[in-house]
Amino acid sequence: MSFTADRLLLFGATGDLSQRMLLPSLAALHADHLIHPDLRIIGTARSDMDDAGFRNFAREALEKFMPAERRSGMGEFLNRLSYQPLDATTLEGYEDLAAKVGDGQGLAIFLSTAPSLFEPTIAGLQHAGLAGSDVRIGLEKPLGTSLETSCEINDAVAAAFSEDRTFRIDHYLGKETVQNLMALRFANILFEPIWNATYIEHVQITVAETVGLEGRVAFYDDAGALRDMVQNHMLQLLALVAMEPPTDFDATAIRDEKVKVLRALRKVEGSETVTGQYRGGAVNGGAVPGYDEELGKESDTETFVAIKAHVDNWRWKGVPFYLRTGKRLPERVTEIVIQFRCIPHSIFGSKGAKAQPNRLVIGIQPDENVTLHVMAKVPGLDRDGIRLRQVPLNIAMPDAFSGKTRRIAYERLLLDLIEGDQTLFVRRDEVEAQWDWIDAICASWDSSGITPKPYNAGTWGPSAAIALAERDGVSWHDE
Ligand code: BG6
Repeated sequence: MSFTADRLLLFGATGDLSQRMLLPSLAALHADHLIHPDLRIIGTARSDMDDAGFRNFAREALEKFMPAERRSGMGEFLNRLSYQPLDATTLEGYEDLAAKVGDGQGLAIFLSTAPSLFEPTIAGLQHAGLAGSDVRIGLEKPLGTSLETSCEINDAVAAAFSEDRTFRIDHYLGKETVQNLMALRFANILFEPIWNATYIEHVQITVAETVGLEGRVAFYDDAGALRDMVQNHMLQLLALVAMEPPTDFDATAIRDEKVKVLRALRKVEGSETVTGQYRGGAVNGGAVPGYDEELGKESDTETFVAIKAHVDNWRWKGVPFYLRTGKRLPERVTEIVIQFRCIPHSIFGSKGAKAQPNRLVIGIQPDENVTLHVMAKVPGLDRDGIRLRQVPLNIAMPDAFSGKTRRIAYERLLLDLIEGDQTLFVRRDEVEAQWDWIDAICASWDSSGITPKPYNAGTWGPSAAIALAERDGVSWHDE
């Protein structure tokens, strides 16, 4: 199964993800000579167009979504593209698709379609001989809305594609700074000895967004923040923070360790969660409508969720993981905060100085930086006692690696799909452990009648989210 695909078949080729991410990523890989000159890209979707029409469509997408300085060789890139219209729900049409694609050898397929199309698409691919042992498939989220529906999708995929040919995307794993988490933990001697309940008091993971519904009305209202962000991206971040050191940087070793963490997550009671839904307010200085106004009706879907989670294993016994995500929050920021415990004894206490505990802040986006807050002595002759202050040891990744191209997640993931490296893709057992934990939260919300509390757009969610942390003496890291 180790082969580099010479064709990439994109389902959902005219969709939003394709325009914003997939086509620009492929064009960037082309511009940097990272994909083989002979790789052909075949787009398919319901829209009726020919090759020339699709190339025009792709050109417009690149002009809109790709920085001009990265668009070199665009003409040659467009020549790689061809297109076959298809109604994915009926078997007719797949034979024409197969004729366009050529034989089913050395093919990579990427499904960026509604999950309701996964089953018929796989049946169609099988029917047309495009699901053989030399074909691998990439699946874009959402993979279900519960453990049960996720299993249905996984079963349908498994009927045609073995697990080693199934590439489930979580685009957070394609982000450079997310991968850097592993380098920080496992390429340094400093952190690992203290990366446990003895030295860490709590962990915070925040994924805050300023955007609202962005026109994804039907999808989002069925999903909500818990399924849309926590089930996948946030749990993957948590797993990378909490996992044991893998023996090797490879797909099996890393995913084996992540799944152990996901299975060790303690089931959460509704009382350890806070859900919210934004009302009108102001974000980035502009007035924005409330969720129900954007939706055009009232809804019980949460656009914010905060959770106090626990990983029940030896390393993390008693260490809360506070997770928080929401739309229409004051700023776009993804970060992980590792709050260390206080020093056991302060020699400065008798001199009037107070030592604050160390804190490691890992900025994932938009700022990619790692800041370790350490105590330092304030310069002076100390006649009135010693003063200590927390100062940052700050590494800004773009400065540390200036001159290196910053790539978007899909560049990495599409290249790995083409080349067949599963390390940054989510294995079935991980997805199912994630859903199992999420389902229990949904069930607890249902049984306790928990519905989202309102919060004004441009604030950090309902005040109850602050209380969730504060009752443990913890403040969210909002600076
Ligand atoms: C997607 C969610 O998976 O991630 C969106 O469906 C969300 O609702 C997006 O906006 C966030 O991704 P990023 O890379 O902008 O943080």
